Amino acid sequence: MNEAKATAKLANQVALVTGASSGIGAGVAAALAKAGAAVAVNYHSNADSAHALVDDIRKSGGRAISVKADVGQPDDIARMFSAVHDQLGDVDIVVANSGIQKDAPSIDMTLEDWHKVIETNLTGQFLTVQAAVRAFVARQRKQQFADGHPPHSKALGKVICMSSVHDVIPWAGHVNYAATKGGINMMMRTLAQEFAPQRIRINAIAPGAIRTPINKEGWESPEALEKMMKLIPYKRIGEAEDIGNAAVFLASDDSDYIVGTTLYVDGGMTLYPGFENNG
Ligand code: BGC
Repeated sequence: MNEAKATAKLANQVALVTGASSGIGAGVAAALAKAGAAVAVNYHSNADSAHALVDDIRKSGGRAISVKADVGQPDDIARMFSAVHDQLGDVDIVVANSGIQKDAPSIDMTLEDWHKVIETNLTGQFLTVQAAVRAFVARQRKQQFADGHPPHSKALGKVICMSSVHDVIPWAGHVNYAATKGGINMMMRTLAQEFAPQRIRINAIAPGAIRTPINKEGWESPEALEKMMKLIPYKRIGEAEDIGNAAVFLASDDSDYIVGTTLYVDGGMTLYPGFENNG
């Protein structure tokens, strides 16, 4: 291992990122790898993109694998965690990122689309965090670290839940999505409270408008982008890298005293920009 790698913030750590074949998840996986972690890139259906990301990470000298799983299915989650354990070792960092949108005016929303979004965004995150905590606890039982955490990290394990500014900003036409993000807030804080005594840190990131395929309509034309800027005081669209940087911080010892917090990475979108000019 070269010196730069040995001193990297997340050296000797293993990370799993769900929904990492595109968008924010891919940005987070790349950033964690750049910070020295070995990264498992989970994907649901886009194998080609997941493999391409793994290749990129390996070409830059990092360790990475891809692992297929539907995070709404407990058996898939269990298989994914054992694949990560077998191929990369004990997991230190889990980013529960998988998320989908199935938008419709609430009056027309089908029960199927309601359930689908809840299953991936909320149940999927719960199952992912539950499996992460089980893995961290099993590791401590087996390895018996004297002060409760491995030598390369001040915490036994770190979890980051991917939320959204829509955990606080209501979003007409997206009731299923907004409900899951509001739910993630209490889920994350409750889990953080429950597992902090075991030196497990659980936090969330709430991204604003980040340039990814999920919101392509909002940035692909200059007109759409101009409209979006009315919602962003900082007057630029976010990039996946902005979220990757926040994830590295929340996964590293730099944030060791941060527990149960949501970090808004949104260019000020949650600052009620409609009041910018005296309302
Ligand atoms: C959504 C994006 C949207 C952003 C800001 C995110 O949670 O997934 O589609 O652009 O919130 O509204």
